[in-house]
Amino acid sequence: MCGIIGYTGRRNASEIIYQGLKRLEYRGYDSSGAAYLADGKLSVVKKEGKVEKLLPLLKDVKSSLGIGHTRWATHGVPSDTNSHPHRSGNIAVVHNGIIENYAELKGKLISDNYKFVSDTDSEVVAHLLNKNYSGNLLEAMQKTVKMLKGSYALIAICDSENRIIAARYKSPLILGYGSGENYLASDEPALAGLCETISILQDGDIAEVSSESIKIYDENLTPVSREVFPNLAVCCDLGLDNCPHYMLKELREVPDSVRFTERAFEGIRQKLSAILSDVNRAVFVGCGTAYHAAMIGKRYAESFARIPCEAETGGEFRYKQPVIDGRTAVFAISQSGETADTVEAARLALSLGAKVVAVTNSHHSELTRIAHVVVPVAAGPEICVAATKSYTGQVAALYLTANLLAKRQPEKLDKVYDLCKKTVAELNIGSLAQVCAKARGVYFLGRDLDYAVAVEGSLKLKEVSYVPGEGYPSGELKHGTLALIDEETVSVFIICDDLLADKSVNAVEQVRSRGGKTAVFTNVDRVIEKLRSETPYVFELPRCDKYLSPLLSAIAVQKLAYQTAVALGRDPDKPRNLAKSVTVE
Ligand code: BG6
Repeated sequence: MCGIIGYTGRRNASEIIYQGLKRLEYRGYDSSGAAYLADGKLSVVKKEGKVEKLLPLLKDVKSSLGIGHTRWATHGVPSDTNSHPHRSGNIAVVHNGIIENYAELKGKLISDNYKFVSDTDSEVVAHLLNKNYSGNLLEAMQKTVKMLKGSYALIAICDSENRIIAARYKSPLILGYGSGENYLASDEPALAGLCETISILQDGDIAEVSSESIKIYDENLTPVSREVFPNLAVCCDLGLDNCPHYMLKELREVPDSVRFTERAFEGIRQKLSAILSDVNRAVFVGCGTAYHAAMIGKRYAESFARIPCEAETGGEFRYKQPVIDGRTAVFAISQSGETADTVEAARLALSLGAKVVAVTNSHHSELTRIAHVVVPVAAGPEICVAATKSYTGQVAALYLTANLLAKRQPEKLDKVYDLCKKTVAELNIGSLAQVCAKARGVYFLGRDLDYAVAVEGSLKLKEVSYVPGEGYPSGELKHGTLALIDEETVSVFIICDDLLADKSVNAVEQVRSRGGKTAVFTNVDRVIEKLRSETPYVFELPRCDKYLSPLLSAIAVQKLAYQTAVALGRDPDKPRNLAKSVTVE
């Protein structure tokens, strides 16, 4: 995916464009560029490499209208000429998406004597706009998009019009409303702190953006109106913040994810309460890490509201002909809000009459357009493929939601926020990561909520370090898994439930008696006293309400996964074979 941005207004467009591209860089960074109007002249600057390469080309530019692009190459290698914007005559355009019929269009344009300089699909749009232009860029865009097949978010400018024209089909594009200035961007983080409200273009929309107004049309240029939302994006720098990897930076943002999510929850409390008022069953659905958050949400709702609950993966739920009715709440949990199995599970639930609640870190994703209500996770952009702060934000959101469902007062999260900060800062995994890096297998065990964190710890470790393992209930150890245990394995126990602690300590001792290495993350005093003298790896976590302990133990297993990956020389941000969100089935 690529990132695109546009600005027109009273400030210097080149600065807004540059900063916006820095925030969009996580969408792709093999080349970038900008186009702007200055003294009625259209200029284009673009360069292979990261966005910072644009700075010397933009730093002296004074302009009130411009567009920008940061690229993840799909057609044509990363190079200066393949980077966007693409220009044709007096028009420049940036594109996110894939023009599937570009070869056919390119052939026709070449026979009309258009000269191509790049190997990209996107360049055909520039020449089509030029060909269709007869003094009105809005009409040229309307004619052009009718000829395109595939997906596009397009932003175009031309030297004789003081406005920006955009179009969207299957690639995201949002509009930001300012005063005396207006914005366009691929997603909200690029506009964080720049504008209070935004609108989401829908498939087929064409937009006309000037410094004083934003008009949206359908494909026939009939005016349409789109809902205006608050811009929920929190101001956060998409740089690495002096961290070697996003995973470490985002681990450090876990406490803020809890705090901002609690704050954002207040905005939807009333609406959510009304939606859940007659619910007598709940299903929590997600994929990957989001499924592990679903497991916690299920336990919260069962414990607080005393209603029957299930946790399901999206891929299982959607094919099992679930028993759903109008009093069932289905919580669709997804960091991206775009995971195909979760989105389709939500659609199925809706068709069966359920109350559908989206719990997502992406406030204008497909999932949010399906759900009756959105419980926002305010973790900010999460770049690392492995979810960390978004998971913790999901758990916080589910804690608050389950309390609402039970019509009971939740514990304020500011205390656990401080404990998260303490755990992030002080928990030292030490040489345990080195031991896990050499292990034949690493197993995570826990009971109840600790089991849900155990499976998350196992997935995190597998995702970023590729060390095999499994997460399972401590009570299951004797029923087979113990056969796997020997001196080449590590068993990581999470013991944060005082009532179940003694049983889990028994499991630790069973593993040790078979020569298995063990590690324990716990906040139960007697467990610490008993095991610290016997085993080298006993890590003390801060005491807190047992229902909030996953917020702390998750940090521990995420830290372990990160440090094991680093010990093995892996790239924790972009693990092999994985994607940040699987939007295909
Ligand atoms: C996978 C990611 O592709 O999708 C996981 O690697 C993630 O980290 C899973 O948990 C679900 O993604 P989402 O966006 O639906 O939470």
